Amino acid sequence: MKSEIIVISLTATLAGSLTPLSASEPATQPALRTQFINHERWPDNNGVHINAHGGGVLFHDGTYYWFGEHKIAGEAGNIAHVGVRCFSSTDLYNWTDAGVALPVSEDPTSDIAKECIIERPKVIYNQQTKKFVMWFHLELKGQGYSAARTAVAVADQPTGPFKYLHSLRPNAGAWPLNVTEADQQPGPKNFLQRDFAGGQMARDMTLFLDDDGKAYHIASSEENETLHISELSEDYLSFTGRYIRVFPGKSHEAPAICKHNGRYWMLSSGCSGWAPNAARSAVADSMLGSWTELGNPCVGTNPHNNLGPDKTFGGQSTHIFQVAGQSKLLIAMFDIWSPEDAIDGRHIWLPITFTEDAFKIEWASEWKLPGTPQTSE
Ligand code: DGJ
Repeated sequence: MKSEIIVISLTATLAGSLTPLSASEPATQPALRTQFINHERWPDNNGVHINAHGGGVLFHDGTYYWFGEHKIAGEAGNIAHVGVRCFSSTDLYNWTDAGVALPVSEDPTSDIAKECIIERPKVIYNQQTKKFVMWFHLELKGQGYSAARTAVAVADQPTGPFKYLHSLRPNAGAWPLNVTEADQQPGPKNFLQRDFAGGQMARDMTLFLDDDGKAYHIASSEENETLHISELSEDYLSFTGRYIRVFPGKSHEAPAICKHNGRYWMLSSGCSGWAPNAARSAVADSMLGSWTELGNPCVGTNPHNNLGPDKTFGGQSTHIFQVAGQSKLLIAMFDIWSPEDAIDGRHIWLPITFTEDAFKIEWASEWKLPGTPQTSE
């Protein structure tokens, strides 16, 4: 597959671009893009840097939808003032601002009150109910990261408006399918047992929708020490109580999952706040089966910051999606966080290359999809 992807050498300025960060700054109509350009600001149809952080991409009826955290300027942008924003595209290079799909609430008693924390929203479509289902990591206003909840919203249209349903700590009263006797005994660091009755913590999260229509919720749990992979109900709105613990004590964050050649592949990070660390990868024969850790899949160096695999090019994974009609082309999405000026977080999108037993993600400053039509405007 790699040979089909045209990687172009770095020609653009390394200093970033003049694309404004918000609609209040003057923007010029951007030229249509014909390739991915990593790390630089990525203008939407209004010429404003795409405000969709910690996001994910859904393909539906010929259109891609990119959902992400709408950030505001400064450190204040690390909490939610606006909500989840959506952008749409038919070619993956050029994105139209489709507005706020899920707004924060002006009601201070709401779970999603303005100034709560909304992170890593992911949307999947339920063929049976014909609903778009969004899950996201939610922290309650003024409580830091202590709530550790996951939350769900639903819509009839991909761009929303999404109706907020509820938030929870999942799998209350259920032991994981791979629980051991020791896991069930109280102990000072046994967070699984501590949270058995009230529900398990859920922070960094993603969703994975399998070919058979089953959906899974993957989240950092147990004080961020252990990932939980949980099966969702048929309508994707709740948890069935079937879940597994993965990599106990290894502190994985930023999970992203894809399927390739009948196996499940995970990309994730370590746990170091907004600062980058080394990416991780893993493989399994089934979502609720046993997962095997592989190595760091990243290769190369990002010339904008001179960061290589040990810092994931300065980024942190957020999602993997398949290019429509190209079952072998999977794109990994990363955020370069900018906690001092949250709105200026940058995006890295790179193709995944598989071998028999592993995958790799090679840095490219610019690259094109195979067979991308050249735009002439
Ligand atoms: C790393 C996570 O991946 C982000 O989503 C965010 O929660 C930051 N930590 C907060 O420090």
